[in-house]
Amino acid sequence: MKVFINKVIPEIGLKLLDEAGIAYTVWKEKPILDRGQAIQFCKGHDAFLSVGQAGLDADFFKECKHLKVVALHSVGFDGVDIKAATENGIPVGNTPNVLNKATAETALLLMLTVARKALYLHEKIKKGEWGPSQPTQDLGFDLAGKTLGIVGLGRIGAELAKIVTQSWGMKILYHNRSTNALAEKELGAKKVSMDELLAQSDVVSVHTALTPETKGMFGMEQFKKMKPTAIFINTSRGAVHKEDELTEALRQHIIWGAGLDVTNPEPMSKDNPLLEMENAVVFPHIGSATKETRDKMSRCAVENIIAGLKGEPLPYPVNPEVQQGN
Ligand code: DGY
Repeated sequence: MKVFINKVIPEIGLKLLDEAGIAYTVWKEKPILDRGQAIQFCKGHDAFLSVGQAGLDADFFKECKHLKVVALHSVGFDGVDIKAATENGIPVGNTPNVLNKATAETALLLMLTVARKALYLHEKIKKGEWGPSQPTQDLGFDLAGKTLGIVGLGRIGAELAKIVTQSWGMKILYHNRSTNALAEKELGAKKVSMDELLAQSDVVSVHTALTPETKGMFGMEQFKKMKPTAIFINTSRGAVHKEDELTEALRQHIIWGAGLDVTNPEPMSKDNPLLEMENAVVFPHIGSATKETRDKMSRCAVENIIAGLKGEPLPYPVNPEVQQGN
């Protein structure tokens, strides 16, 4: 039994494979593999641990139907053709829960950075523009006591809500299809319509998965419904907002600022106008990028691999129906 791993993952996962006596090939070279090469490698292996979701489409699963398991090194699987994996009898696993805190902290970091114009002011220092302090110049705003609107209040959104209610007494509005009874009870979160959330929030933070329904759900129409003093934060997927319309909304000061950990496409081009705007902050998709979190992700992904190779149900399955009856 042999696993193909398409990028270098934290050592902890490789150790688990060693302990289980499972051989593996890790692609360590740059540039990253193209689709054809990845398929060729997978053909010579029994399982695939994939960092990233590129190329995991219907053709891939057809070509690689021998695979006993595909383990994603991510919680998201919006880029994977799960239906095709299921049709070809391939269990797919992901890494849920372990990155909730790190991603919530990234949203928090964006909120603070935008609210205090921190990056813009840092750039001013680099340009030699740190002049005498002026009491009315370059002011940010307090988050304490303000309202946070969470679109998609699941596990990551709830972590964020917990921090900001406990630390800053922020009020939580949320918009979901389902009711989050726990967040309502413990954090005082209030479920509202999307229009109400947009109109009443000082910060709108997106935590929804990318689906056909959420693709492009934030555009000029939504930004115009937000307060002109509000901040838009996206740590979910770049395709949830329309980047050109967000850029325009920031340029025209329709909203106060935006913080993005996700863009469309990724990586963002260095010429993107958002990078030059004083009211925008962009991070290179670092939501899960802490040592502790990546270690846990590596462990989850390998646990999925080991179970899949043994023909056992994956501990973190995306399409459990494939293995039902095992
Ligand atoms: C995930 O796990 O889906 C993250 O977006 C990748 O860091």
